[in-house]
Amino acid sequence: MSNERLIVQEVAPRDGLQIEPSWVETADKIALIDQLSSLGFTRIEAGSFVSPKAVPMLRDGEDVFQGIARQPGVTYVALVPNLKGAQRALAAGADELNLVLSASQTHNQANMRMSCEQSLASFAEVVQLAMGQAVSLNGTVATTFGCPFEGRIDEAWVFELVQRYLALGMTGITLADTTGMANPRQVTRIVRQVLEFVPASALTLHFHNTRGLGLCNVLAAFEAGARRFDAALGGLGGCPFAPGASGNICTEDLVNLCTEMGLETGIDLARLIALSRTLPALLGHDTPGQVAKAGRNCDLHPPPAASG
Ligand code: COA
Ligand code: ZN
Repeated sequence: MSNERLIVQEVAPRDGLQIEPSWVETADKIALIDQLSSLGFTRIEAGSFVSPKAVPMLRDGEDVFQGIARQPGVTYVALVPNLKGAQRALAAGADELNLVLSASQTHNQANMRMSCEQSLASFAEVVQLAMGQAVSLNGTVATTFGCPFEGRIDEAWVFELVQRYLALGMTGITLADTTGMANPRQVTRIVRQVLEFVPASALTLHFHNTRGLGLCNVLAAFEAGARRFDAALGGLGGCPFAPGASGNICTEDLVNLCTEMGLETGIDLARLIALSRTLPALLGHDTPGQVAKAGRNCDLHPPPAASG
């Protein structure tokens, strides 16, 4: 497996912070993104441009995007729900717009207050707006692997939504497991089928660890050919409009897995762990990630002093 590469897109500044109960200062958000930018990530989802009433925590998206020190080689992504969000994100200088709808009509109504058709119609307007501008477009299908309201989602419908995104001109597709309902066999099946019409370089998998299966699902997707994964520092994250939502897969746990298995990520694990260990002070609570608590495999302890 040596020299195989797995691309990690860091989403803590967006998915991670959107569900935090206490306000994080704009300057702290900027500092977090700037530190992430220096760790080797090529892609960072730095915020969202949604209704400030829906997600008050990310209402300062403009100031965040304008305040960060952009690193060459890093794509700064903004999550966008509609045309107004796209206008704001473009004005703020986002490199990529991540358009999101849910395969579940019920979750799309709860999250976006739209039917899937209404979301797609709105994305067609975003495509018009983005035409000729230096911005790329990614389409996310949330609740691909299950919905907390509807349960199982018809896979044919997921594939149809992916096709609709491609027809609109999206250059990237994300399949998201919004509340950690995916299992590895389902992931293998869906990833194999989607890779028949989406190149691996354009596909991202977005897993939450809500039921403890996050990294199992990563491995299943990787073995099926997927190469790009969302993850959040400390394992933060969750959708505020999905009951029972909890953290994304944890970035340092994922990078540790890759390090131990000989998969390259280009990310500095020691510094990543050090940054993750600053989160409890910033957020006022413990984080779910495990490697930041345990340390790397190579962080050995002195043997117990011989007694007697
Ligand atoms: N950014 C800022 N404000 C926005 C906006 C955007 N992208 N889209 C709409 N608004 C404003 C409108 O201007 C309007 O403002 P007003 O009350 O001052 O006139 C208000 O929000 C209502 O607009 P409307 O189009 O009727 O929106 P809505 O209430 O039906 O909500 C969304 C639709 C999509 C804007 C909202 O559900 C949303 O932001 N959802 C995202 C939730 C999210 O981020 N989930 C987690 C990530 S997947
Ligand atoms: Zn998520």
